[in-house]
Amino acid sequence: MKHLLKLMDLSQQEIIEILNLADQLKYEKKNGIEHHILKGKTLGLIFEKSSTRTRVSFEVGMYDLGGNALFLSSRDLQIGRGEPVQDTARVLSRYLDGIMIRTFAQEEVEDLAKYGSIPIINGLTDYCHPCQVLADLMTIREHKGILAGKKLCYIGDGNNMTNSLIVGGIKMGMTVSVACPKGYEPDAELMKWANENGTFICTDNVFEAAKDADVLYTDVWASMGQEAEAEARKKIFKSYQINSEVMAVAHSDAMVMHCLPAHRGEEITEDVLEAHANEIFDEAENRLHAQKAVLVKCMAK
Ligand code: CP
Ligand code: NVA
Repeated sequence: MKHLLKLMDLSQQEIIEILNLADQLKYEKKNGIEHHILKGKTLGLIFEKSSTRTRVSFEVGMYDLGGNALFLSSRDLQIGRGEPVQDTARVLSRYLDGIMIRTFAQEEVEDLAKYGSIPIINGLTDYCHPCQVLADLMTIREHKGILAGKKLCYIGDGNNMTNSLIVGGIKMGMTVSVACPKGYEPDAELMKWANENGTFICTDNVFEAAKDADVLYTDVWASMGQEAEAEARKKIFKSYQINSEVMAVAHSDAMVMHCLPAHRGEEITEDVLEAHANEIFDEAENRLHAQKAVLVKCMAK
């Protein structure tokens, strides 16, 4: 595996290998076993948007693997002043051994990979969030024992998270249902692919999507970059919330997941979040282990 630009680029077998390695690295870290597989290597972390989990888990992950991480805010880089991505890619390829980038356009991530000569990892774009969904699949497998055949229901905005959950879930043989208001559906091409390659529904009816779900997932109503729409979205998304009524139609042992940060009282109620905090914070922890697996797959010789 050279890059992680989006989950669509990975085969089911490659996803399974990442999840297996992530499980192994998690077990070994808990038991004090270290692997300095990336000794002497440096990963650049380019952030054009805020982050808590992605930044910290990549920095700690590189440290755990014996390498270095370099935090590069676009506020300080020349890319933030308009230096073309083609040039940035070629320059950074001369210093670094890999780049993780969080930005707006998916095209920018694809261009870094096209013009650079080092592994590129997508740390979130407006289109997708592959690192998050690898950690999510790892967490579901940990809690449920298996992915294939389980029903994953996403409630809320058809955003970057939804796009990656659809691809990751369908590739792993899960049934995927999405409930979102009309006009806020996930990417149309991805929905077409999901219909052709697995069991998928997209509806504006929350209860239809959540019925018999094994996993209920949500994310913020307004993503980074949509701050100006936040107030209007509160009205549009009002009923697209994980709450006790929605939980009641899912399986009695259904998991609840959230990529975080969460807005209590908006996409999820305080009581549901706190009742499922164990799953949600396992999910956050697993960012570290899943990304270490990705780093090893992309950057180790
Ligand atoms: N879930 C996630 O990517 O969190 P951050 O925005 O804090 O990195
Ligand atoms: N959809 C959210 C995810 C944050 C991890 C956003 O893009 O802001």
